[in-house]
Amino acid sequence: MQNQINRREFVTAAGAAALVTSASAVLAAESGSAAAPVKILGVSCSPRKGMTTAKAVQAALDAAKSVDPRIQTELIDLGGLTIAPWSPKPPEDDMKDILPKFQDAALGGVIIGSPSYFRSLSGLAKCFLERLAPLREPKMVLADKPFGVVAVGGFRNGGQEMTIEQIQAILLCFGMVPVGGHAPAFQGGTLLSANDSIAQDELGLKTATQLGKHVGEMALKLTTKS
Ligand SMILES: Cc1cc2nc3c(=O)[nH]c(=O)nc-3n(C[C@H](O)[C@H](O)[C@H](O)COP(=O)(O)O)c2cc1C
Repeated sequence: MQNQINRREFVTAAGAAALVTSASAVLAAESGSAAAPVKILGVSCSPRKGMTTAKAVQAALDAAKSVDPRIQTELIDLGGLTIAPWSPKPPEDDMKDILPKFQDAALGGVIIGSPSYFRSLSGLAKCFLERLAPLREPKMVLADKPFGVVAVGGFRNGGQEMTIEQIQAILLCFGMVPVGGHAPAFQGGTLLSANDSIAQDELGLKTATQLGKHVGEMALKLTTKS
């Protein structure tokens, strides 16, 4: 009899505990707090896979991840992929694998990296950003999400800041929230590549990490508020 009561008590207690656990999981997912992951996607828009732009974006992502254990990051390197510009007949190319990542409900922020090409964003960056167009209609999927930009040039004052501004102008059309970095990176990450390396550009790498941190912080703030 005592055993039966104990078993009944145990089953009741276990049931209650399970209810509490699943209720908090639902609450966490709904409020964006506790264990709910906040994803930050980084996109390297250099046609050269794994080169300086990808490294700069990865540095920013690593800094974003260091902000909080809830933050998860992923680098999408467009180098070597085929991304055509927007066209009335949607092109069949590598964008099909990338677009769903931007529709993930856990997406909290984005970091875009582009080389400075003729003091402007790369053609690949422009094609990629145009192909995000389906995320504007029927719903502004990216609205109110923070984004930051890093730009790498082969020259000091090689158009990095203009490249950042051009990408910011495009993503404002998606209702996204532009984020600069903490000092000294107010506009974003601005890096100088020497002999295909950014390793020597200490200040530039600092701008990338200061940007990544701020995007991570803003992603958490905006996710937990909504
Ligand atoms: C077509 C082209 C145009 C470029 N124009 C500029 C420029 O205007 N300013 C600059 O600083 N670097 C310029 N560069 C150099 C690249 O921005 C630089 O090498 C950058 O690190 C390349 O990024 P990646 O290593 O990720 O490919 C240009 C390179 C190419 C191929």
